[in-house]
Amino acid sequence: MIRTTAMALLLAATFNVNAADKAPAKADPAKAKPIVEAVCAGCHGIDGNSPAAPNPNLARQGADYLAKQLLNFKSMGDKPALRENAIMAGMAAMVPDEDVAHFAAYFSQQKLKPAAAKDEKLAAEGQKLWRMGNYAKGIPACSGCHGPTGAGLPAQYPALAGQYQEYTEDQLNKFRSGERANDPEKMMRIIAAKLSDTEIKALAEYIAGLR
Ligand code: HEC
Ligand code: HEC
Repeated sequence: MIRTTAMALLLAATFNVNAADKAPAKADPAKAKPIVEAVCAGCHGIDGNSPAAPNPNLARQGADYLAKQLLNFKSMGDKPALRENAIMAGMAAMVPDEDVAHFAAYFSQQKLKPAAAKDEKLAAEGQKLWRMGNYAKGIPACSGCHGPTGAGLPAQYPALAGQYQEYTEDQLNKFRSGERANDPEKMMRIIAAKLSDTEIKALAEYIAGLR
């Protein structure tokens, strides 16, 4: 049974090769490892657990999501990058498009050592918003897209559980100001526009402790 499925996949892949006339990128974490060790590890940790709060943990994040972000950090010809960030623009430029899948596979297979909430009261406020949103303000429940436990929903909705407060807060601020604008159909920009500073802090606090 498994064999049959594997064979079907293999055939499908072969068809793709013929259609696109080039080999599909087969994700191979080992191919990413030398550059991870030499470059990415300094900010994201060798196992995707970042040593400092401004740099996101990448461990256990969905591979498709990681690949999308890496591509979004790159400028495309004369068009600016969809996700503009000075640091990551330089880093992503070092990863050729056809190698992106190797890095995505590498980090998605690492085990997360999650951050923790420090302020219980603030986290409790965040939990309410996470689970129920705020009907009066038109804020949907985060859990609807990111999952009840923040595990995300591959391929589109990233895992958020255990992420550093500082990073989450920063991203929500960037969605709110429009500085980050790579979310499909403005999904996050529309939501973040309705969040107050306190709500953003509360959500970031809750998410850090979410398992
Ligand atoms: C000098 C520090 C630094 C280095 C080195 C670095 N990064 Fe990053 N990375 C960051 C920062 C800071 C962010 C958050 C950017 C933002 O605010 O949008 C980030 C974000 C990311 C994200 C998006 C994660 C998410 O949850 O959206 C990915 C993927 C990523 N980096 C991959 C890599 C890879 C692969 C390498 C090595 C080739 C690398 N980074 C090297 C600092 C770094
Ligand atoms: C309608 C679906 C939807 C809802 C509801 C939603 N999100 Fe998102 N969120 C997304 C999508 C899609 C992305 C990925 C954007 C991209 O592709 O760059 C995302 C990305 C994010 C990110 C960036 C993660 C990273 O590592 O780059 C954060 C933080 C986030 N959401 C927080 C929240 C919070 C907090 C709430 C609740 C107030 C929420 N989201 C509700 C769809 C949603």
